[in-house]
Amino acid sequence: MKTLPIATLVCLFASQSAFAGDIAKGKKAFKKCASCHSIKDGGKNKSGPNLYDILNRGIATNEKFKYSKKLVSFANENPQWTTELMGAWLENSQKLVKGSKMRVKVKKEADRENLIAYFQSMGQ
Ligand code: HEC
Repeated sequence: MKTLPIATLVCLFASQSAFAGDIAKGKKAFKKCASCHSIKDGGKNKSGPNLYDILNRGIATNEKFKYSKKLVSFANENPQWTTELMGAWLENSQKLVKGSKMRVKVKKEADRENLIAYFQSMGQ
């Protein structure tokens, strides 16, 4: 059956957060973000916070960055960036956290997955 491998992949994807994202493509997609975000270890904050190790640290926890009140109160209820929350944030940050300061949308699911794979590679 030709369709079996795809179905298996979809199941894998749904049952665990084993992202099928591509790190190199994520790095490319990040160019769209780099005007506001550094992702290097110890990199400076720009108009957005540094994103190094973002998936292992709490939401809105960069001490030197002044986050919006909306994102800070969202973080009180959702302390951790899970891959699901990150996907939703990248898809539509204003829908996930109304009134937050980021307005960039990543429309393609594949781009979001690749970005998340890149984030996973840029951390501890
Ligand atoms: C025009 C500037 C700008 C661009 C471009 C931008 N962002 Fe942001 N980003 C922000 C700002 C500002 C915040 C802080 C939001 C707040 O405080 O409400 C933020 C916050 C974030 C956070 C949460 C950080 C934390 O410490 O919890 C992530 C993750 C993020 N951005 C990812 C991205 C990605 C990925 C892209 C590219 C697809 C991107 N951003 C593009 C300005 C930007």
